Amino acid sequence: MNKKPLSTAIKYKSVSLLMLVLFIAEPIAAKTVKVSMTAKENTVVIDNKGTEYPAWTYDGTIPGPVVRVTEGDTVDFTLINPDTNKNSHSMDFHAAVVDVLKEFSEVKPGETKHFSFVANHPGVFMYHCGAATMAQHIARGMYGIIIVDPKEGYSAAYPKPDREYVLIQSQYFPNAEDKDGMIENRGWTGSLINGKIFHYDPVHDENASLTLQSKPGERVRIFFVNANINNPVAFHPIAGIWDKVYINGNPKNTLTGIQTYNVSVATADTFDLVSPADHPTNNAIVDHTMSAAMRGAITVLMNMPDADSKLGKGDNILIR
Ligand code: CU
Ligand code: CU
Repeated sequence: MNKKPLSTAIKYKSVSLLMLVLFIAEPIAAKTVKVSMTAKENTVVIDNKGTEYPAWTYDGTIPGPVVRVTEGDTVDFTLINPDTNKNSHSMDFHAAVVDVLKEFSEVKPGETKHFSFVANHPGVFMYHCGAATMAQHIARGMYGIIIVDPKEGYSAAYPKPDREYVLIQSQYFPNAEDKDGMIENRGWTGSLINGKIFHYDPVHDENASLTLQSKPGERVRIFFVNANINNPVAFHPIAGIWDKVYINGNPKNTLTGIQTYNVSVATADTFDLVSPADHPTNNAIVDHTMSAAMRGAITVLMNMPDADSKLGKGDNILIR
């Protein structure tokens, strides 16, 4: 028989118990996440047939890059405004508690701005340019999402999803110089979803080739931002019910069994959808406000056994 002396056995047991307690009690170590973006005044394509538009962007795309950190992390941010640009730009993270006149102030062409903040509130938040005229800087494309994952991780109240997708909606004003129209809500002709009209809707746009995908029964989590200039969004999954809605993306603000949820301008919420597990189905995720739906705010989600396993994971949570 292999017997350890009793005192040694107790010692080993206490050490491993101590390590276990330390492991459980230790929160995820907060880290510093460096984020750098370059303001670009560049042409983008705003629909599936290739229509070009003189955008203002972060890093060249509408929306800008997805920023993802964990609650408690420090975001160390740099905004570069190259001297080839004509306009001042800025960065306003809705996840930051700072000084609007300091951190969020305008950066002239040829200048660079650096600031940091601690992401103390979990959830999903819009970021955008706040340079004057703000309506124009947002309408021309300077916005995006910052996801702050809760430091507690997943739980019964906030289950681990099988797939995650970012959807960001905004109003398209074809006259990029019409600041008054943007402010007064005149002249918008399209709803952009992640930068394109009917981006993921082959049903209403023959030129569309992309859809969101999942397998039957999977939990699909949608991080949704309303980057419209003036209009709230009536967010609804046709042929489905939101299993959970996390207001502002915070698991402490959870609603259950919701048909349509009103997302105000400049906010973001998180939505869980679970399709029937025993057969393939489709959802159309819409802004049920008809003026927006019929201008492009319809997204098809296909729940099928041969769903692309890469979609809704890693870098593919925002499909370009
Ligand atoms: Cu700007
Ligand atoms: Cu804002």
